[in-house]
Amino acid sequence: MPDFPKASSNFVPDGPGGGYSTASTAAAVADGAAIAVVGLAKRVADASGELTILHEVDFTVQKAETLAIVGASGSGKSTLLGLLAGLDTPSAGKVVLDGVDIYALDEDGRAALRKEKLGFVFQSFQLLAHLTAVENVMLPLELSGATHAREKAEAMLDRVGLGSRLKHYPKYLSGGEQQRVALARAFVTEPPLLFADEPTGSLDAATGESVIKLMFELNRQHGSTLVLVTHDQSMAARCGRTITIAAGRLV
Ligand SMILES: Nc1ncnc2c1ncn2[C@@H]1O[C@H](COP(=O)(O)OP(=O)(O)O)[C@@H](O)[C@H]1O
Ligand SMILES: [Mg+2]
Repeated sequence: MPDFPKASSNFVPDGPGGGYSTASTAAAVADGAAIAVVGLAKRVADASGELTILHEVDFTVQKAETLAIVGASGSGKSTLLGLLAGLDTPSAGKVVLDGVDIYALDEDGRAALRKEKLGFVFQSFQLLAHLTAVENVMLPLELSGATHAREKAEAMLDRVGLGSRLKHYPKYLSGGEQQRVALARAFVTEPPLLFADEPTGSLDAATGESVIKLMFELNRQHGSTLVLVTHDQSMAARCGRTITIAAGRLV
């Protein structure tokens, strides 16, 4: 997708030897984990010097697993999810997606991997303003050279209840409708990895429920690995596993 945010410019690089364990990465990769996170940390420069947003975290997610990441606002959930998706740059550590160490790739390599494997729903939607709903959803299909892009995009929008909003531009859609377009865009390629940042945050209960159903259906039907950042305890409870983050640490 062309609109992924660039890595933050105030990134503080780590010295040599990030302090992570190569052995545990190797073990996770050998296990065929969908995601292996090893010694992953994020620090940024701030007025008083350096701020640690994410302390070194380690975990693995198996293929077709459903994982909820929960924690208070400002605890580092979005930062972690962005790092998992290759949208940010870590200060230390590794993210291995399906055996590929994504930060050993260059930007283009990471973009190609995202296109092939990853659907991402941003907390702030990130729809393209000059494209209609259906054109936003067609975009990842066109980028990957899929056939029948319009039909597939229309069918996915229908599935999230927006069959009658195909030609609307984002600014003429409510927050909840924009969120559903963002979900349709992330899921239309049926990616093996689905990441969503507070996917029901701006939806009413009934629409939220239909979106949750859709995500878990894709998980079941296609064996997609699902990682959800959420405040919603009932959504977290439906995931196979929950990890909690507090002040940038797993607790
Ligand atoms: N690029 C950045 N520079 C400085 N501070 C940041 C940056 N990105 C995030 N933060 C801060 O890091 C903390 C965690 O942010 P975030 O990951 O968005 O939390 P959450 O998604 O859990 O609400 C917040 O205090 C936020 O203000
Ligand atoms: Mg967030």
